[in-house]
Amino acid sequence: MDKKEKIYTILKEAEGVLSGEKISAMLGVSRVSVWKHVKGMVTSGIPIVSSPQGYHLTPDPNSLLPWEFGVWQDHIHHFREISSTMDEATALARQGCPDFTVAVAERQTLGRGRMNRTWFSGDGGLYFTVVVRPDIPIVSASLVNLAAAVAMATILRTLFDIPASLKWPNDILVDEAKICGILSQMETEGDQISHLRIGVGLNVNNSPEVDEPTAVSMKKLVGDHVPRRQILISFLNNFKKQLVNFDADSLIADWRSNNSTIGRHVTITTLRKTVEGKAVDIESDGGLVLQMADGSCETVIHGDCFHI
Ligand code: BTN
Repeated sequence: MDKKEKIYTILKEAEGVLSGEKISAMLGVSRVSVWKHVKGMVTSGIPIVSSPQGYHLTPDPNSLLPWEFGVWQDHIHHFREISSTMDEATALARQGCPDFTVAVAERQTLGRGRMNRTWFSGDGGLYFTVVVRPDIPIVSASLVNLAAAVAMATILRTLFDIPASLKWPNDILVDEAKICGILSQMETEGDQISHLRIGVGLNVNNSPEVDEPTAVSMKKLVGDHVPRRQILISFLNNFKKQLVNFDADSLIADWRSNNSTIGRHVTITTLRKTVEGKAVDIESDGGLVLQMADGSCETVIHGDCFHI
């Protein structure tokens, strides 16, 4: 634990205000040193209030600082501003980071979505990438994306009463307005998955409709500011449970029961082509079965889906 982390822990455990003198005695450093550390912590966004009596940490359920994550603490890499959490996760993964390492940012300057689109990433949203190393065949990798989408949709429905539905493969909608997007990237070693990077952008307290008129935020839906930490912790718990007890059949069943794509006419766009048809089913590997105008069926395994 470095000094800042120790000060944070001491203030968190203290009830009310703690004097600089007491903290300096506990740490074995001067009061000036405590003051300098606290100043740095306040600058980096930690809500410590100073008064003549000492220092006081105000509880902040919105904080995404690693120290607030309990058992997940060592997995969290937090950034105030970053190009994209995908880039940071790539670097961490290639350095051999453990399963379920998370890069999370308050803001992204080059946030990106599927098909090279920009993902607007202003203050208030939840932007993170999880590195996972599932022991499953490469052909099942798409199911990990579905699992992430199922996990987040479940949280929106059960914890916040938001009627979230899944648009194939892993967008989350509320009445056709996008609330969450997931971008996944994979690296392989021979015929095995080395790691997957699952990037999640959730509109929480940001105002996505400014840049994307068809998007919506949790704040708008629930009518109040929504703390983000509980969402990330719940997501990690749910997602991990699914990957540890990986069960493709029950995952597909969960996806089916929460989706709004099957039964719809859709266009699916890939970097090379666009196909149009009626979505009639999802296969066990996550592919979407389309019924074409001539009655034949075609399965698409990736692409961007538009409900028409
Ligand atoms: C999409 O719907 O197109 C996917 C959007 C994914 C956005 C997230 S935000 C965190 C992570 N970092 C990025 O640059 N993109 C993903």
